[in-house]
Amino acid sequence: MTMQTTLDIDIQRTQSSRLSQVDFNNIPFGRIFSDHMFIADYSDGEWKNPHIRPYGNLDLSPANSAIHYGQSIFEGMKAFKSEDGRVLLFRPYENFVRFNKSAERMCMPTVSEELFIEGLRTIIDLDRDWVPPQEGEALYVRPFMFAMDDYIGIKPSDTYKFMIFTCPVGAYYADPVRVKIEEHYTRAVKGGVGYAKAAGNYAASLYPSKLAREQGFHQLIWTDGQEHKFIEESGTMNVMFMIDGVLRTAPTGETILKGVTRDSVLTILRDWGMKVEESPMTVAELVSALETGKVTEAFGTGTAATIAPISAIGHKDEVFDLNYNKDTAMSTKILNELEAIKRGQIEDRFDWNMAI
Ligand code: COI
Repeated sequence: MTMQTTLDIDIQRTQSSRLSQVDFNNIPFGRIFSDHMFIADYSDGEWKNPHIRPYGNLDLSPANSAIHYGQSIFEGMKAFKSEDGRVLLFRPYENFVRFNKSAERMCMPTVSEELFIEGLRTIIDLDRDWVPPQEGEALYVRPFMFAMDDYIGIKPSDTYKFMIFTCPVGAYYADPVRVKIEEHYTRAVKGGVGYAKAAGNYAASLYPSKLAREQGFHQLIWTDGQEHKFIEESGTMNVMFMIDGVLRTAPTGETILKGVTRDSVLTILRDWGMKVEESPMTVAELVSALETGKVTEAFGTGTAATIAPISAIGHKDEVFDLNYNKDTAMSTKILNELEAIKRGQIEDRFDWNMAI
C-alpha cells in the first residue's frame, strides 16, 4: 500500500508486522527493530526520493566509502507514550541541529529541517504501536547518514543515504555503573571530531572500554587528550558530580558532546534553584573531593542511558565507592522529573515535547 505525506514520502507498509512477537515486558536495548525504516538519497547536490520501506537489509557495494573511510554520523532520541495515548518525541530540534554540525565536520551534506522532522514524524507515526507504554521503556529513534560512493580513494563521497529506524528499548544500563578515570587512551582532541556524533568516535572507544571492563568497570571517564588532566565525558554519556551541594559538569566544546539530556538536567536543576557549575574540573580536584567525601553523588546523562547513577569511580589503583542509594539520591529525583515531563505526566514547562 502507498500513501503520501507533505514531504511526498513514498510509503510501502510491511505485509507482515513483527509487533506481536515482541515481549514488551522484557525489552533488551537495541536488538528489536520496528516494522519500517525511512530512507532519503543524496546525489547531484540534493536530497531526493524520501521513502519508507519495511525494515530490512541494505544492498551495499564492498567498495562503499563509509565502510572504508568512515563518513558516517548518527543521532539518538526517545519517544514515549503518554497516558492519554499521545506519542511524545523528546527535543528533536536539538538533535537536528547537532546532526547537521556532525555532518559539516565530517564533510557530509546537511539535511533540511523538513526532511529531518517530517522523516521522524512519519516513521514514528507509522510505527506508533511499537512505542512501549511501560515506565522505564521508550521507543529509541536512530537517524543516521553515511556515504554511498563506491570509490577506493580518499575524498568526500558525492552520494549519501539519510535513514531513520526505531526500536523499542528498555534500560541501557541495568545497574548503577562503575566508571574508571582514563588517563592513557584518548577519546577526543582539540581540532578533532569529539563534538560530532561520528561513528568512528565510538569504534575508537571500544578497546580502552574493553580493558576497563576487564578491570571490573562498565565505562570510562575520559580526560582531555593533551594532558589527561581534565575530566571530560563518558563516551555514552556526559558526566555530572554533586560536590559540596553544587552540581558540577564539564563545559561542552570541541572535545565533549553537547548532550541533550545534559542540557535538560541542567535546565531542571537551575529551575529548581540549585547551584550548577559548568566549569573545567581537574582529575586531581575530583580525586581530592572523593578522598574527602565531598562527592555525594555522580551520574551520567545521555539519551540511551537517561540518568545513569555511578556507584564507584576508579582512579589508578584506587576505587572510590559512592554509597549510591536510589531512595535518597538526587539523581532519582531528577530522573523522575525528566520522565514525568517526557511522558506528559506533568506540565511541559520548557516546551520540549513534540507530539506525534
Ligand atoms: C545515545 O545516548 O543516544 C547514544 O547515541 C549513545 C549510544 C551509546 C547508544
